[in-house]
Formats: sequence, structure tokens, C-alpha cells
Amino acid sequence: MSKLWGGRFTKETNKLVEEFTASISFDQKLAIEDIEGSLAHVQMLGACNIIPLEDAETIKEGLLSIKEQVEKGEIEFSIEHEDIHMNIEKLLIDNIGPVGGKLHTGRSRNDQVATDMHLYLKNKTKEIIQLVQDVQHSILTQAKVNIDTLIPGYTHLQRAQPVSFAHHLMAYFWMFERDKERLQDSLKRVNWLPLGAGALAGTTFPIDRAKVAKQLGFETIYPNSMDAVSDRDFIVEFLSIGALIMTHISRLSEELVIWSSQEFQFIELDDSFCTGSSIMPQKKNPDVPELLRAKTGRTYGNLIGLLTVLKGLPLAYNKDMQEDKEGMFDTVETLEGSLQLLAPMIETMTVKKEIMRKALNQDFSNATDIADYLVTKGLPFRDAHEVIGKIVLYSIQNGKYLLDLSLDEYQQFSALFESDIYVILSPEHVVSARNSYGGTSPFQVKEQIKLAEETLFIKSK
Ligand code: ARG
Repeated sequence: MSKLWGGRFTKETNKLVEEFTASISFDQKLAIEDIEGSLAHVQMLGACNIIPLEDAETIKEGLLSIKEQVEKGEIEFSIEHEDIHMNIEKLLIDNIGPVGGKLHTGRSRNDQVATDMHLYLKNKTKEIIQLVQDVQHSILTQAKVNIDTLIPGYTHLQRAQPVSFAHHLMAYFWMFERDKERLQDSLKRVNWLPLGAGALAGTTFPIDRAKVAKQLGFETIYPNSMDAVSDRDFIVEFLSIGALIMTHISRLSEELVIWSSQEFQFIELDDSFCTGSSIMPQKKNPDVPELLRAKTGRTYGNLIGLLTVLKGLPLAYNKDMQEDKEGMFDTVETLEGSLQLLAPMIETMTVKKEIMRKALNQDFSNATDIADYLVTKGLPFRDAHEVIGKIVLYSIQNGKYLLDLSLDEYQQFSALFESDIYVILSPEHVVSARNSYGGTSPFQVKEQIKLAEETLFIKSK
């Protein structure tokens, strides 16, 4: 019987059961975290005289040498030992002899696996915050050179009012800023230490959890051992923030796909971020934003998957919880891959300023401004809205835009019109007139960019 838990068994495990229950194929990603956790645990066992100091030292050396082998990729894990925890313990015992069997004193795989996951997410969350920040920098780079670039602003994907292209891009900056804040806040809860909870009820040994927490860099210790081994909220939280980040990436990607189409031609993605068609030689496809949009789906799946795993589980640990890992790894890897591509793709895209500007000569997105014009001349907004609606209808019927109408034509609709009407109709004027805080005027956009830079600077300090 070579299983670490083989004592009470009289038969070999069915091969299919062994394969079905094993997690080593995926939880080997936690090898380093598992060893870090064990190192802290064993040093505490020695310091608290729970095992002799020299045994703790021998185990520590053994673990460090396994860690080195893992880092060099020299270890082949085996399905026979089910998961990363038992694989490493088995390696340790094989390497240093029976004294290795003292490592698991006062500990269970239940508090061990929870600790590994906390350590893993702690590192990954910090890394992802940095990657989100890289995307923010690339948005800022484009925004700063496009403050005066005008683009139609849309609602219902219908032309609404012209805006600064920088203003449009900066909307995403703030979405990502909130995402970073969420990740940062979630770290508070990732920073709880489960180790020392034992299987579910604590341990009979005089352990020192504070010492372990200090060594592993945890700020809080789970005050309830049953909660410690069965809490997966911190993973749900990460998956939910991850899904939201991908939602933001997906919305931006959708815009990039639309803007780079033949119909819009507002931007061109760099050749190095596009692919061709195997049959149509003229094609340059925006595969990257399309895939970013699509990969959002799997992160929603990972979130719903884990919520569903947890919803009916009684306390404390249940094997169901082993299913928390693959979705978590997948969301981490999806975020890493997506954010790493998004930043350079935004930075290298070409903004076709003239085409954007030309588009504005052929729409009615200055209509609100004539309404506002009549309002400043004393007409109630509702009446002004009605008058301009009629003017727009008249223009469409006569194949004209608002700048093409003569003063005579305007005055047929309202005697309040004077020749200054033409000044306020240019898209440049329409944009710069929206000078309220958070608005799209060049002045406000510059202020916004200043604030964004300060925000990045302060937070990266
Ligand atoms: N591989 C297991 C998991 O990921 C480790 C914990 C196993 N605990 C147990 N009592 N079977 O959840």
C-alpha cells in the first residue's frame, strides 16, 4: 500500500477512481505555494517544540531542495499520489527518510490547500493589477495625442453628439481604474491565513498561527477553523472581478472591431495585431479584439461554475471544492493573456483623424446645440426641441445638413434665429461648448487626463 493514507484500506484504488479523483494534473501549478506553506509550518513546529528542532531543519532543507527541482522543471508528479500536497510530501519522505513524515503534524490537506490558494491569488492579483495599469498607460498615451480629434459620439449606436476621441478612450481608463480598486480591495480578504485550522476543528498541538501568518505575509488569521477550510469566497470574488474586467475589455474590443471596419474606418489596427484570410487576399481581420470579446465568455463560465459548486455545500471541506481550481487558473491565464495584448494593440493603432472629422459633416449631431441656442434666447427647452425636430425633418427631406440651411430657412421655423447660429454649429464649437465638469471640451478633457495621471502616480507610490 503506497498511498500516504493507505492504512485503513485493504484494496488497491480502482484505476478509474484514481484518475477521476486526482487533481495533480492541474494543482501542480500550486507547487511553489505548497512548499512555501510547508516551510512556514515546519519552522513553526520546530520553534514550538512540537517536533525536534533538528528534524524541522532536516525537513526544511528537504523542502528547499524539492523547491529548486520544481523551479528547474525536474520533477515529474504522479497521479498515484493524487494531488500536489501528497506528491510533495511523498517526494520529501523519499528524499530525507521517515522524518519527512513529521511535516504533516497538526495540519490537514484542507487547511493546506486553502493556504496554497490564498498565496497563489495574492501573487496573481498583484500581477494583474499591474497589467491593468499597463492598459491604462496605453489608453493615456493615445488620449494625450487625440484631445482635439473629434469623433461622433453615439447612443443606441446612432449619432448623438460629437466628442473628443480622447474623451471616448478615457471612459475606459476609469473603468479599469475601478477594476484595479476592486482587485486591491479584494486583497484584504485574500490576506486571511487558513493554515492551523486542521481538518476543520483546529488541532491538539500547541501551534503558533501568528508566527506562520507573519512568515507567509498574511495580515489576518481566520478566527473560525470551519470557515477557514471551507471559505472559497475569495476565489468567487476574484472570478467576479475578473469577469467584469473581461466585460470592459470586451466592450472596448467591440468598438475596435467596429471602428476598423470598412464602414467606419476610424482606426486601423497595426498589421502585427491582425491576421489574413486563407481565401480572400484583401482581408485584414481584427482577430485579436474578436478573441478578447469571445474569451469573456469563459470567465463568466468560471464564475458561475464555482458559485454552483458552492451553493449546496454543507460545512466544512467537501471534495467538491477541488473543482475550484481549474476555473481560477483559467481566469488568471485569460486575464494575463488578454491584458498583455490589449496594451500594445491600443498603443500601436492608427487613428484616422480626417475620416472621423469628415463623418461629422454628414450628420445631425449638432442638433442639440441649436436647441440650446433657442433656450438661451428664452424659449423653453421642450418647445426648442420641437422646433429643431421640424428643422431636422425639413433638412432630411431636402437632402441638407444643418450647416447648409440659409438664415431665411431657419427663420421660417423661429424668429429667434440670427446669423450667429452658424458659429455654434461647427463640431469644434459643439465639443468645446460642453465645458461642464467631466464633459468633452478640450479644457475638461485635459483636466481629466491630468487627474488620471495623478491617480496613477499616487497609486503607484
Ligand atoms: N486536492 C484537494 C483539493 O484540491 C486537496 C484537499 C483534499 N482534502 C481531503 N480531505 N480529501 O481540494
